Amino acid sequence: MIAAGNRDQAAARGGGVQAPAYDLEAAARALDQRLERRAVGAKREAVLAQRAEQQLASRRADRDDARRPDMCRGRQGDEAAHRRAAQEHGHVVRQPRRDRRDVLERAAVERAVARAVPPLVEDDRRQAGGGAAPREVAMILLAGAGAVQHDDAAARRRRGKHELVGEAVVPVAHPTAYSPIRMPATRTQLSQAYPIGSRLDVEGRLQIGGCDAVELAREFGTPAYIVSEDDLRARAQTFVEAFRARTKDFDVLFASKAFPCTAVFRVLAQEGIACDVASGGELALALRGGFDPARIYLHGNAKSVDELRFARESGVGHIVVDNAGEIDRLEAVAGDGPPQPVLLRVTPDVRGRTNDKISTGQADSKFGVSMADAPAVISRLQDSAQLDLVGLHMHIGSQILELEPFRLAIEAIAPLGDFGTYNLGGGLGVAYTADQEPPRIADYVAAKVDTVNRVLGPGKRILDEPGRALVANSTVTLYTVQSVKRNVSTWVAVDGGMSDNLRPMLYGSVYEAQVADRFGGDTHARLTGKHCESGDVIVRDVQLDDPRVGDVIVTPATGAYGHALANNYNGVPRPPVIFVAQGDARVVVRRETYDDLFARDVD
Ligand code: LLP
Repeated sequence: MIAAGNRDQAAARGGGVQAPAYDLEAAARALDQRLERRAVGAKREAVLAQRAEQQLASRRADRDDARRPDMCRGRQGDEAAHRRAAQEHGHVVRQPRRDRRDVLERAAVERAVARAVPPLVEDDRRQAGGGAAPREVAMILLAGAGAVQHDDAAARRRRGKHELVGEAVVPVAHPTAYSPIRMPATRTQLSQAYPIGSRLDVEGRLQIGGCDAVELAREFGTPAYIVSEDDLRARAQTFVEAFRARTKDFDVLFASKAFPCTAVFRVLAQEGIACDVASGGELALALRGGFDPARIYLHGNAKSVDELRFARESGVGHIVVDNAGEIDRLEAVAGDGPPQPVLLRVTPDVRGRTNDKISTGQADSKFGVSMADAPAVISRLQDSAQLDLVGLHMHIGSQILELEPFRLAIEAIAPLGDFGTYNLGGGLGVAYTADQEPPRIADYVAAKVDTVNRVLGPGKRILDEPGRALVANSTVTLYTVQSVKRNVSTWVAVDGGMSDNLRPMLYGSVYEAQVADRFGGDTHARLTGKHCESGDVIVRDVQLDDPRVGDVIVTPATGAYGHALANNYNGVPRPPVIFVAQGDARVVVRRETYDDLFARDVD
């Protein structure tokens, strides 16, 4: 091999070197090629470095934009633009993203997997590190750069279920005494509270349904409910498949109070789910959402005659009688027409471990007929010419993380007689935080079906009414930080609060929160809302990554009773509902406007 300096000397000497000419030429050519390759390599490196710098700069610019305090002040204008865009594009608003093709491909794969194996969805998420499967897609990419620590979810999950169940459940006697949520400094994996198919991209930015969360916030404003349509569908399929695997005669009813939104009704109706409604308003929404009235069940402990009439005229399949006093009125409404099929709601005197405000199975409940009174009411209904008693209904409460109360309740109502249909209510709890480990849908269904078969006998028609378990984890709420204040605590205030999520205030519910493009972090903060109450705290103890004004904050698991309980306290317009799927986002409920706040004024 000849060194470059020697070659130059040889050339300068005008061929006076004795070595064979072809050797020199060949060596020179080889050297030229190597030098050329090195130059090209160096050039490529320079280009790459320049590109990286540009990306960094544009990311910084994006971030600066996002932090601008006035980012959300242009909301009304943005909103109008969104509406125009939504109208122009048939309500489909494309999400421009840097890595769109990559994201679309991933989302498509995740969707395909989620579709194909809904009953396995829940198994997957319990595998150590198995969040990579459809339920909670692993966010590993940053780990390669050594930028993140591993969240040892697997270790936590190895602990006995009894240790996990109830860990973040509201202790009845001390509703505010929670163990603080343990969050690792940074995460490689999203908690199971996030919708199926959620991921952090290579830059650590959250994507829901293939859409960048920060871009969604920019495009649709905040606060906003972001719903993963795939998640909704997969959970519905999981319920249906779990029942189908165990019994022939069943129906899964969406307890629509959890998310009474036309588009949600529509998706669940498409997935073959029936539904229950608790008022005339929910009935109107369910009908508008495309539910077959024959598959609608009307509940209510205080149904008005108007509501009963509306149900009857709409052809509602079943009305759930809550109390003896309702019977006469319902008979009058049924009149001479065909007998109205009804179920009788009974109170089994069994309570699950949950917040008092959402426990209904105990004897001292405002719902249903007591075990003591039930036999007489059953006889009364069986004697009715206008009503056809097809079975019993019960619902023991909500956000229950153990299966035993469901079994006990079925055993409790067995002495009331032999009926063809049993509606077992809903109540299956969900994970609001990484620490919570709800029963699997399949186990919940198995517990109920097996107990019915064992205690009430085989061949019964079994109805179940999940609300929360169908919709809670489909949705995240996006907020924008409006102020950060430090006194005894660090107060991170966002542009929503108790008007879009009343649950922390009503039930002391604990949520997770993250900066949507910087997960992890170690700033201990109180995430508060914008309302004029000290109790307007969304997450009391949260670790955020150096939260600043303009940051987009995400709270997962807001699909159940979020939109449902939303209100206009302080004249705050209610947030829009945005469906995301495979990289597309569409407004299904627009944001309220100030005009909406005046809409009912007649004077
Ligand atoms: N069936 C009946 C008769 C119900 O009353 C309920 C809920 C359900 C089914 C559905 O329960 P789920 O599967 O969603 O637990 N606002 C409270 C929840 C109130 C539940 C009312 N009834 C919350 O945000 O936790």
